[in-house]
Parts: sequence; structure tokens; C-alpha cells
Amino acid sequence: MYFLLKPILFKFDPEKVHYFVTRNLKRFNRFPGGAALSRAIWALNDPRLEKEVFGLKFKNPVGLAAGFDKNADVISEMANLGFGFIEVGTVTPLPQDGNPKPRMFRLPADGGLINRMGFNNMGMDVVAEHIAAYRKNTPASQKGILIGGNIGKNKITPNEDAVNDYIKCFDRLFDLVDYFVVNVSSPNTPGLRELQEKEPLMNLLSTLQQRNSKNDISRPILLKIAPDLTDTQLDDIVEIVQRSGIVGVIATNTTISRENLVSPDNLKTETGGLSGNPVTKRSTEVIKYLSEKSKGSFPIIGVGGIHSPEDALEKLAAGASLVQLYTGFIYEGPGLISRINKAILNK
Ligand code: FNR
Repeated sequence: MYFLLKPILFKFDPEKVHYFVTRNLKRFNRFPGGAALSRAIWALNDPRLEKEVFGLKFKNPVGLAAGFDKNADVISEMANLGFGFIEVGTVTPLPQDGNPKPRMFRLPADGGLINRMGFNNMGMDVVAEHIAAYRKNTPASQKGILIGGNIGKNKITPNEDAVNDYIKCFDRLFDLVDYFVVNVSSPNTPGLRELQEKEPLMNLLSTLQQRNSKNDISRPILLKIAPDLTDTQLDDIVEIVQRSGIVGVIATNTTISRENLVSPDNLKTETGGLSGNPVTKRSTEVIKYLSEKSKGSFPIIGVGGIHSPEDALEKLAAGASLVQLYTGFIYEGPGLISRINKAILNK
């Protein structure tokens, strides 16, 4: 079905298509019987797909990566397409517009996307309201999807004060999400990736984890990293995860590298983070490296260029416990989710 729709969608501006598709998915799901029909067509429910990772029970190991549902607008619609978990955000304390448009570009010849969205989002209060409404309005029979809160800092907040932004988002979303992701790896907020350096990162994660431990219940906190880190930096990541007490890592975000692209120069020189096929190999290498170096001591969520069941199986074989999709979902459509889940069952 998606192969008929895709050539039409791909004729238009990617960001406009995103809003067009999500708006219409919402309409479809509100239509009597729409949600049930969506689940019947797309979602694969099989108890053998359930997986317990960092103390949470995932319906299936295929999740929606951060950036698609920045404002927690379409959680139930995405759940009805068969995702096992949805990561909302990146959310910042204050709402912000992000970078000027256009800021998202398709590279069809490479099966990739470049984006420099710049954390456009409605801010933590609105996102919190959206998740609360989802929790309140969703019938018990449709619950069970886990929600991750991917948190970041506002562009206007200097790096010295970044910790406060993460704490604000953490506190605001604490009762609403199932796990947290600390995003310090987006290339589109100036200076953000400097927070991946050893000292500021250790400070940020241990501050959040200490706050987490003060509560009666704690939430799993994961760190999302860039694929552009060197081996030495990855060694530091292993040490920091273990010392700070956070539960795991999401590998990886988009890359700033433009190696081996076949797309025309005017496209590949767009500023921003590159995702999709061009990042598949590097992201799997990062997962494997972390898994080996840490001796599997913490879970890894594998993301980056999963466009086929084989890509997902490779990430799992490299040491990932769960996987997430973004660009592959755009290129292959929702059928990719159940194809991956079927491949996992047939393994
Ligand atoms: C992203 N990604 C992302 N990640 C994140 O942690 N916070 C964010 O706000 C965003 N925003 C975002 C927007 C767009 C348009 C894209 C394409 C990607 C990164 C995403 O979650 C994922 O880590 C990478 O895109 C690699 O996976 P894929 O896209 O190759 O499956």
C-alpha cells in the first residue's frame, strides 16, 4: 500500500508531508473503527515478542525514534501502527520554533535524510499535557505502549546552565513517561554536542541520577550518543554510564559526516544531521563497540539506518536489546515494523 503512496508524498516538502500524514492519521484513527482497523492491518501482537529491558516490559522491541513525535501528538496513532514503544521529544523546558525552514531534506539516491530542525517543540508543559491526555483517554485494552521522554536544552540556555534545563524537563515529565533519554548528541543546537565531553557529561548524568534516586520510584535514564564519537570517547561513555548509574545508551543519533554519498552536491552539503542508510554501518559499529567494551553490562537501544529486517537483526546481533526507526519508517512505511517483528520471531 505504502509503495503507491510514497512516490506522491516524496514529491512534496518533507516537513509539510510529515504534518499532512500525521494530521490524516489522527483523522483516520478518530473515525469509528479506524483505530481498530489500523491495528488489524499493521500491528503484530504476539507474546513471544515481549521483552523486559531495564525493568520495563516492551510489547515488542521495535520503537519509534525521537524526533518524529516531538510533541507527543500521535502516540496512540503510532501504537496502532504496531510500534512497541514511542519516544517523544526532544522536549525542552520552553517552547521553541527551531531553525528557519526548509530544514529537512530527502536524499533518495542515498536512502537518507538531512535535518536541522533545531529542537522545534511546544515545550515541556504542553508535551506533559499531551501525554497526560493520552494516558487518561486511552482505553485499557489499547494501553501497554511504553513512552520514553527524550529531553534537551533550549537554544538560548548556555551550556553552563544546561543541567537546569534537563532537570526541569525530568521533573515535569517524571510522572508521565516510562523512561528518559538525555539527548546531548543533536548536531542542530549550537554547542550541545560539547556536553558529550567527559566532565560535563558525568556532571549532567550523575546530577540527574541522584535526583532520580531520591524518589520512591526511579525512572530508567538512558544517554543518546552521536555516531561521530571516537573510540576513546566511546570508552569514556562506557565509564560514565557505569559510574553515573544510568541504565543504558541509545546509539545513535544522526551524523555530521557526509562520506560516500552519491546525492548531488547541493543536497549533500545541506547543514544538519544525516540519517538513514548512510548511517547504518557506523551506528551498528558503535553498538558493537559499546557492547563489547562494557561486556554487555548495560542495555543498548540500536537506532540508525534500519530500513529492513536484516538491518534490525544486525543491530540486535551487535548487542542492541531494542531497536528504533525514523528514516526507514519514512522510506519503507509502517509495514517495516511488522516485517522486523516477524523476522525476530522467525530467527
Ligand atoms: C531526528 N532525530 C532526533 N533525535 C533526537 O534524539 N531528538 C530529536 O529531536 C530528533 N529529531 C530528528 C528529526 C528528524 C527529521 C530526523 C530524521 C531525526 C534522530 C533520530 O531519532 C535517529 O536517532 C536518527 O535519525 C538515526 O535513525 P534513522 O533515522 O536512521 O532511523
